[in-house]
Amino acid sequence: MNLNVPAMSTTTVRTDPAASGPTPASDPEWWRNAAIYQIYPRSFADANGDGTGDIAGVRARLPYLRDLGVDAVWFTPWYPSPMADGGYDVADYREVDDLFGDLTEAEGLIADARALGIRTILDVVPNHVSDQHQWFQDSLAAGPGSPERERFWFRDGGGADGTEPPNGWKSEFGGPAWSRVASPDGTPEQWYLHLFAPGQPDLNWDHPDVRREHEDVLRFWFERGVAGIRIDSAALLAKDAGLPELLDDHDPGDHPYVDRDELQGIYRGWRQIAESYGPDRVLIGEIWLADAERFARYLRPGVLHSAFNFDFMTCAWSAPALRGSIERTLQAHERVGAPATWVLSNHDVTRPVTRYGRADSAFSFDAKRFGIPTDLGAGTRRARAAALLAMALPGAYYLFQGEELGLPEVEDIPLERIDDPMHARSGGLDPGRDGCRVPLPWSGDRPPYGFGQGLETWLPQPDDWAGLTVDAQIGDAKSMLELYRTALGLRRSHADFASGDLRWLNLGQDVIAFHRGPGLTSVTNLTGGRLDLPPHEHVWLASAPLEGGRLPADATAWLRPQS
Ligand code: GLC
Repeated sequence: MNLNVPAMSTTTVRTDPAASGPTPASDPEWWRNAAIYQIYPRSFADANGDGTGDIAGVRARLPYLRDLGVDAVWFTPWYPSPMADGGYDVADYREVDDLFGDLTEAEGLIADARALGIRTILDVVPNHVSDQHQWFQDSLAAGPGSPERERFWFRDGGGADGTEPPNGWKSEFGGPAWSRVASPDGTPEQWYLHLFAPGQPDLNWDHPDVRREHEDVLRFWFERGVAGIRIDSAALLAKDAGLPELLDDHDPGDHPYVDRDELQGIYRGWRQIAESYGPDRVLIGEIWLADAERFARYLRPGVLHSAFNFDFMTCAWSAPALRGSIERTLQAHERVGAPATWVLSNHDVTRPVTRYGRADSAFSFDAKRFGIPTDLGAGTRRARAAALLAMALPGAYYLFQGEELGLPEVEDIPLERIDDPMHARSGGLDPGRDGCRVPLPWSGDRPPYGFGQGLETWLPQPDDWAGLTVDAQIGDAKSMLELYRTALGLRRSHADFASGDLRWLNLGQDVIAFHRGPGLTSVTNLTGGRLDLPPHEHVWLASAPLEGGRLPADATAWLRPQS
C-alpha cells in the first residue's frame, strides 16, 4: 500500500499518463460525462461597474473557467426581463437584457468560450412569459374572447361576481395561481393563470403559435452556436384544458399540469430540431418528479438527452439515502440508455456547505426558514466529500457558480434587499433563494471583492468572505477551489471516469464505495469515525488528509486499487 498523502495537505494528486479519457471538445456525445458550470449572470462578474454581473464580465473570466476544467457553461436567462423572477420572466427570447449586454456580445461570448473548448448552454423558459412580453400585452389590449387571449389561460372568475379565482390551484411561490386583470377603465375582468409569480403568465401549449414560437426560438439560438438548451420547468407546460381541481393523488400522467403525456410529443419535436444542427446539440430538462420511471420517460431515445437529478441533490447526508438515490438513478437511466446527472446545487436551493451542516441536511422548499442552526465546518467537510463522490459517479456533473469556492448560503441579507418573489409570497417565512445568488468574491478583502468596481452590488456580500475569494484560494492546496480544479482535471484525464460501469464495494452500511473501471475506487466515509481503506496502490485524491493512513469521517478518497 502506498499512501501518497502528505500529513498536512488536504488533497493530493497523482497523474497517470497512460490513462486518458475522451477529448470532450471533439466528442459528439460530450454531454454524457461533461462537467457543466452554471452561471447566474447577475452575480458572476461585473465589467461595467453597475453592481450587476454582465456578459463582458463573463468573457473576461473565461480563462478561470477553462482552468477550472469545465466542458460547458449553462447561463440562467439573460433575456430582457422586468426581473419579477430573476429573469425567468422573459419579455423577448431573441434579445439580451441591457443589464447584461447585447446580442453581439452574447455571440462573442459563445465564440470566445468555444475557442477555449467550452460549450454554451442557454436556459429557455417555455412554460410562461413575462407579463411585459408582447403577446401578453396584446392579450390584455384585445380583451376577453379574443384570439390573443387563447395563447394564455384566461378564464372568468368564480362566485356570483367573478371575484373568486377560476380554480383553487396554488402558485409554486405561494398564494393563488391566478391574478385578475382590469379593463382600461379599471373595471376588473378576467383572470389569468400563473403557476409562478403574477409577472409570469402561463402559456397555452395547445395553441399552435406557442409551439411554433418556441421551435423558432430554439433555432435562433442553435444558429448562434449554442451547444444546448436547458428547459425550464420542463414538466409543467401541458395543462388539462378543463382546469380541474387537484385531487389528493393523481395517476401518472393524469395530473392537470404536472408531467402530462402530451409533453413527450412536444420534446420529440424539439429533439428533431436539435439534431438538425448536429449530434452534439443537447436538450436538458428541469424535471422535478419523484417517480424515477416517469422521469426516465423524458430521456428515452428521441426525447430529451438529459435531465437534472434532483433526487440526489435533495438527499440528506446519509449513506443509505445517498446510495439508494444513486441506485435508483442508475437503474432508471440505464433502462433508457441516458446518462445520469449529478447535481449538488443550483440557483434555487440552499448552498451545500450550509445544507450539509444542518441536523436535517435534506433539501426541501417547504422547510426553508430563517435561523436554522448550522455547523459550517461540518458542512464544508461534507460538501468536499460530496463533490468527490458525485464527480466519481457515471454521468455528467453540474456545478453552480460559487460551489467551487465553498460559498455558504448568505442568510442575513437585509429583508428590504431580498429580491426573490418566494420570500414575499411566503408571507416572509421563506428566506427565498437569494442566499445562493450573492455576487461572487474574486479578490481583495472587502466587498465587492473584485466582483466589479463602482456601485453597490445588487445583493450585498458578507464582510467575512476575504478567505473565500478566488485569489485567496488559488494555490492553496487545502482550499475548496483547488479540490475542484484537481478533481475536475482528474475526471477529465482518466478513462475510468467515462467508462460508464460502476461496481459496488461493500465496506459497511455507512460507507459508499464503488469501483469505476480498473483504475479507480471511490470511498466515502459516513461512519462518524476513521475508516480503513481497501487495498490500493495509491491515493489519487482525498477530500481531507488521511489520519494514520485511515480516511477520516465525512471524507471521500479516490484510490487506485491494487492490480
Ligand atoms: C425554474 C427555475 C427557477 C424559476 C422557475 C420559474 O424552477 O430554476 O429559478 O423561478 O423555474 O421559471
